[in-house]
Amino acid sequence: MYGSTSSTSKKVTVPDLRARKGGEKIAMVTAYDYTMARLADEAGVDMILVGDSLGMVVQGLTTTIPVTLDEMAYHCRAVARGLGRAHLVGDLPFMSYQVSPAQAVESAGKLMKDGACESVKLEGGEEVAEHVHRIVRAGIAVVGHVGLTPQSVHALGGFKVQGRGSEADRVVEGALALEQAGAFAIVLEAIPPDVASRITALLSVPTIGIGAGAGCDGQVLVSTDLLGLSRGHQPKFAKRFANLGEQAIAAMATYVDEVRSGAFPAAAHTYKPNAGTSERSVPAAARSADDLDAPLALDHWH
Ligand code: KIV
Repeated sequence: MYGSTSSTSKKVTVPDLRARKGGEKIAMVTAYDYTMARLADEAGVDMILVGDSLGMVVQGLTTTIPVTLDEMAYHCRAVARGLGRAHLVGDLPFMSYQVSPAQAVESAGKLMKDGACESVKLEGGEEVAEHVHRIVRAGIAVVGHVGLTPQSVHALGGFKVQGRGSEADRVVEGALALEQAGAFAIVLEAIPPDVASRITALLSVPTIGIGAGAGCDGQVLVSTDLLGLSRGHQPKFAKRFANLGEQAIAAMATYVDEVRSGAFPAAAHTYKPNAGTSERSVPAAARSADDLDAPLALDHWH
């Protein structure tokens, strides 16, 4: 197990996360499948977000706009199976909540029932406060999201820093409206650090920053960015904590070489031949009697 010292198997709850306000920082990452969810959970991550960033990360899109509620529910379900401790947040995708508070409640309910989520996240400030209020009244915990809201990428004119100069007040007021509506945590994306610190000081619920500086109550990163699996342009805030992309390419290139040369599969990766099989029908690499008797890693597969 790779758990940090604060990691225990006790499930992280919404009240636990609220209680972290101003205390131990909350670590959140995105995950889109069972395998990544398990790794993050074992690492001691507190919150897993199945972000609609899966549009870019999993589907190869350029924006999150086409992602559907059914796709989100599918990925949330897979992620949920990988979690023991971390709290699971599902993102409500574009046009699954903006239409009306009633639509927002229905969509949030679907992520809880079909996606096994423990809370939902949606983008926007004052304009979605009523939606948040209604979801919370239905007994569903909500994470807000202000600053750069990628579902509005075209209206914003691109993936740009928000809340500069006189725009700061609009972001602050949006965060306050979400807290008032009942959000239990708020993501602050791509805003100047002074604005994020101001919001963090004003709110009684935790702020979780991404490109919002060190003054937030927690941080969130896209898992493929932090692991070095993403290709192309990286935002300034996306620190790489590993270079797994390079390692994956090197490993696959070695595999390609070994398949072509016949070095793979060797005896260690080959089942015993049937009794009486002629020596000549077994590849040279598998002909050592010792190797054939060695236990196979997957010997429960017949
Ligand atoms: O979709 C996503 O991954 C997100 C995070 C970047 C906060 O919303």
